[in-house]
Amino acid sequence: MGTPELGILNRREFARRAASLGIAVGLPVPGFASPSSKKKPLPPSAAPMPSIGGADSLRAHAEGVGLHFGFAVVPELLDMEGARTQSTNDPYTRAVIAQADILVAENAMKWSSLRPTSTTFDFTQADKLFDFAALCGQLVRGHNLCWHEQLPSWFAKTATRENAQALLTQHIQIVAGRYAGRVQSWDAVNEAVHIPDGRADGLRKSPWLDLIGPEYVEMAFATAALADPQAKLTYNDYDIELDTPEQTAKRGQVLMLVRRLHARGVPIGAVGIQSHLQATGPAPGAGLIGFVRELAGMGIEVYVTEMDVNTHLLPGASEAQDAAVAEVYRNYLALVLPEPNVKAVLTWGISDAHTWLNESSQPWAVRADGSRQRPLPLDEGYQPKAAFYAIRTAFDAARQPVAIGDITKSPSPDGKATADPFAPFAVPGSPSVEPKPR
Ligand code: XIL
Repeated sequence: MGTPELGILNRREFARRAASLGIAVGLPVPGFASPSSKKKPLPPSAAPMPSIGGADSLRAHAEGVGLHFGFAVVPELLDMEGARTQSTNDPYTRAVIAQADILVAENAMKWSSLRPTSTTFDFTQADKLFDFAALCGQLVRGHNLCWHEQLPSWFAKTATRENAQALLTQHIQIVAGRYAGRVQSWDAVNEAVHIPDGRADGLRKSPWLDLIGPEYVEMAFATAALADPQAKLTYNDYDIELDTPEQTAKRGQVLMLVRRLHARGVPIGAVGIQSHLQATGPAPGAGLIGFVRELAGMGIEVYVTEMDVNTHLLPGASEAQDAAVAEVYRNYLALVLPEPNVKAVLTWGISDAHTWLNESSQPWAVRADGSRQRPLPLDEGYQPKAAFYAIRTAFDAARQPVAIGDITKSPSPDGKATADPFAPFAVPGSPSVEPKPR
């Protein structure tokens, strides 16, 4: 739903209007200096604020090379009225307007948010996100329709082998149906592979697997395709970026899952690589690119869906952390963006003021010195950090090829180079040779 004055703008038109307003609205928010805003003369010693809005935004630089850029947002925090009247002074809302051309709800579209009871839905925050995105000419990713986490508290008491299939398919019909035609891509299934669970097919022993069986994956995709034929249906997962033995094995099983789905005609259009990376490494490499190219061979797009850089193991002051975080963004984007099927980059938040890494007390989030993490492009005061500039520069160079080494020599569990580096992961039902297009 748009507003009478703006309606649903296309992205170019929105960017044009936003730029003419001195993105977003020419108010004196630090970091949003604009050439078109009326400036007081600076005192001779003061350096001008770097411009990061309008043509200088991450959004504009991504669009310039045909990429989408955006991030996870918390709809509750968005100043909808201020955005509507183009007068918001809220730095979070301004950053969302200025920097993103695609939004994803950090939590608002998960089962735990949408399903207060087994028979009701609460779409308040999800609707707000779609309204905001329409107003600002932004795309929306749906996250997610089927996951083993953030299920509502009633789920364990209510779901049984008898009703689980109906619960899953009805949820997908109602949620994906409600937003049909307005979703760029839906995470139909999130994080379904977990090698430590020891199954030959690599699937996680999740409530969905226990209650429905392995066919729940296909069921989720097929139901979503009927409910929203336009959205790219995505399989999204984490810890598939590195060339460590664990992540190589998991990436292999994810590829086998995708091959099985694809061979059976299941409408999988994209794979999301979450990209929660560690500042302390190791760096991703040839294995990831081999995977991305396997997906390209099946006509499947790739999105970097949840990127952030975790410094819980990195000692040092904020300057050292910022440099290390920027370096990870720079190297990662330089690695993946030359691949033509990589179409979108989303970070898991935009400012260090709102990141799950500062909201969690898990050992993988907490720094030894007790200081807060700085994993995102803007700092807690919404000022650009080195990571912001690293991402922007990486977008400008996005489609330039880089030397990555021989992908057929990427590590496989038996250590042997093979024409199909994923062959060792094949399980019954996984075609190791790409099927002919039907
Ligand atoms: C996280 C959110 O950021 C947190 O606020 C929430 O408490 C837990 O979930 N992989 C995913 C995301 O697919 O949905 C997770 O988001 C981060 C890991």
